[in-house]
Amino acid sequence: MILIDGKKAAAELREQLKQEVAELKTKYNKVPGLTVILIGDMAPSQIYVRNKEKSANEVGLKSEVIKYPDTVEENTVLEKIKELNNDETVSGILVQLPLPKHIDKQKVIETINPSKDVDGFHPMNVGNLSSGYESSVPCTPLGCYLMIKKIEPNLSGKKAVVVGRSNLNGKPMTQLLLKENCTVTITHSRTKDLKAECLEADIIVAAVGIPELVKGDWVKKDAIVIDVGINKTENGLVGDVAFDEVSKVAKALTPVPGGVGPMTIACLLKNTVECFKRSQI
Ligand code: GUN
Repeated sequence: MILIDGKKAAAELREQLKQEVAELKTKYNKVPGLTVILIGDMAPSQIYVRNKEKSANEVGLKSEVIKYPDTVEENTVLEKIKELNNDETVSGILVQLPLPKHIDKQKVIETINPSKDVDGFHPMNVGNLSSGYESSVPCTPLGCYLMIKKIEPNLSGKKAVVVGRSNLNGKPMTQLLLKENCTVTITHSRTKDLKAECLEADIIVAAVGIPELVKGDWVKKDAIVIDVGINKTENGLVGDVAFDEVSKVAKALTPVPGGVGPMTIACLLKNTVECFKRSQI
């Protein structure tokens, strides 16, 4: 069984990006810039944002975090986004989710200029991805995709089952696999026989947020299994895949933690560099 090392894959991607940023600096005399807006003081968001900033600095990006208290007015945030849209030194804008209830998430996402939308959440990017056009791709599914491609470069004709249909993970993951000519089944909480669907799969991406849902006897021998879940339980942090059982049947599997997580942040940096490059043309 191949234990997919997300930390190592992320370190390799960061190294590539570091070199690319250095080349861009020589060519354009400036570097890509990432601005993160963080609202409130939720601990997980604070940790994510700190990691994003650290990684951005490591590859040589210009990085800025703008913090607001959770009482900030929606309009203040929207005006700041508009200012960043017009700031040439800012290549990518990310507003950390979740947002306080009084702030309309969709309004925030749609205010970000699609060409600076490093999350790939803007409807323009969602549409471009599903039409097969160039777009920013949400960081978590992009990281999963890169790890799958490393194990299996030719995905054409493979059966892929995506468990979960969120805008953040399941839906964009499906689009990426479709582009690779996989036959993709999207499953979710109302799927009649999830086990039977998973047993058909050459590739399973589990992104539902149910601890250890995907069991060993749900997985075909030699399947590639990607675990997007991060669930806090009495037994500590676990994914959406029953790791011990599945590791006995799968060809390759991502651990939690140390699988998808590190790649997500590295892909955010990649998206920032891509946005910068497109803006220079
Ligand atoms: N919160 C948790 N994951 C994400 C993400 O990928 N993007 C943003 N903006 N917020 C998040």
